[in-house]
Amino acid sequence: MTTDTQPRAQWLGRWGFVLAATGSAVGLGNIWKFPYITGEYGGGAFVLVYLACILAVGIPVMMTEIAFGRRGRGSPVDALRRVVKESGSGSAWSLLGWLAMLCGFMILCFYAVVAGWSFSYLWKMLTGAFAGATGDDMVGIFVANNENPLNLGFWSTLVVVATMLIVGKGVQAGIERCVTWMMPGMVVMLAILIAYGAFSGGFGEAWRFLFSFNAGSLSSEGMLAALGHAFFTLSLASGAILTYGSYLPARASIARTTLSVAAADTVVALMAGLAIFPIIFANGMSPGEGPGLIFMSLPLAFQAMPLGTLFGILFFMMLSMAALTSSISMVEATVSWLSDSKGVSRRTAAWGTGIVLWLISTLAMLSFNVGADWTLVGRTVFDWLDYLTARWMMPLGGLGVALLAGFVLKNEPMREELGVPPGWYALWLFAVRYLAPLGILVIFADALGIARIEFGLHWPWLLGALVLITLVGELASPRLRRALMG
Ligand code: PFF
Repeated sequence: MTTDTQPRAQWLGRWGFVLAATGSAVGLGNIWKFPYITGEYGGGAFVLVYLACILAVGIPVMMTEIAFGRRGRGSPVDALRRVVKESGSGSAWSLLGWLAMLCGFMILCFYAVVAGWSFSYLWKMLTGAFAGATGDDMVGIFVANNENPLNLGFWSTLVVVATMLIVGKGVQAGIERCVTWMMPGMVVMLAILIAYGAFSGGFGEAWRFLFSFNAGSLSSEGMLAALGHAFFTLSLASGAILTYGSYLPARASIARTTLSVAAADTVVALMAGLAIFPIIFANGMSPGEGPGLIFMSLPLAFQAMPLGTLFGILFFMMLSMAALTSSISMVEATVSWLSDSKGVSRRTAAWGTGIVLWLISTLAMLSFNVGADWTLVGRTVFDWLDYLTARWMMPLGGLGVALLAGFVLKNEPMREELGVPPGWYALWLFAVRYLAPLGILVIFADALGIARIEFGLHWPWLLGALVLITLVGELASPRLRRALMG
């Protein structure tokens, strides 16, 4: 049963989409993951590759996803089916919609656990659990918090329930209302924290760590991590942005909204780095501590600072909100698919999805205690969910979206949907046809050991390959020139 005849929900306010999409993009990825992987992969060089991925791959793919969503007016599965059908292309491409929906769902299964850490640390801050604790105690507290499945399970369950409550209420009354007050709140809290970081003594060192790009060549692993993270942080290839785009009013500019969301996301990640690393350096801690980085070091630092408890509360409150506004976007695709095309009420769809999600996230949660030994090729359930989604499903899904838009669909519907001047349209087309696919394939080839790429050394070859592939591509199917001519 489809509800094609019913008008689809739309964002109510002018800022609805931008707030919701920024809420989706800005999350644990910016504040928890970005600092710790930057620490692990050595700082500046990683940041540079990450920024290049955002520009060359992330922004064009995000524009495409929003356009697909708005054109197809449905969940990723339905929207892609319609978009592909309109162009008269093979229906196999709509498998990309399934991949995206599954990816968003899988991400939430492990994301809920980390969001649970955040909520539990907010609680600990509020109840003064860190009073008088030393560095060793902090490690002990982090381990103890994870060791007890009932405790950890309580917090991840709370995240799943809160997510489903919001999503179950619908696009306007649930998602939009929630982001309308949470997003401004988060910005204020982050600004206060940065101002605080600027006076904590480690600011210069943090700046150098993040922005000194001559930090040596980056490992292949690091480049794949940067690419995967660019997708993760912009919520791409996981159904979130595409589904939010399906509620975008026809008059809104896709290019402008994409740029605002990507810019806000990047600024928040860098600001989070500038808020967190000064504290870490000022307290003589190591930036490469891994996933526990902010949880083990920040409470310690907050404790040693004047008014630290207050700032600690602000920090974990901001982190929890950021996590929640992202979590809701991860399941919106599944819930909208169930309620739009399976005829299930939104509330039932949300709770049904929630139950399956809760079961799998519980398995991921157990990776930190009783299930720590349930490994396959050295990875726990939690690690597998993270690895499969960020390293494989997102880049491959993004590649599929770019190729579909660049080579399979016709110029007209995309041009109409994107609504940009011919020059910008041609630039977008160049990005989805050549730049993004080549970038993704090169990083994959490097990570799989097929070719060893050192960007510093090989950039003339890469540039040459890009020009050659563009020429061959345009000889075989000329679209750029036509696009330029309007
Ligand atoms: N962009 C979110 C973050 O950086 O935390 C994570 C995310 C949200 C990934 C939504 C995927 C998604 F569909």
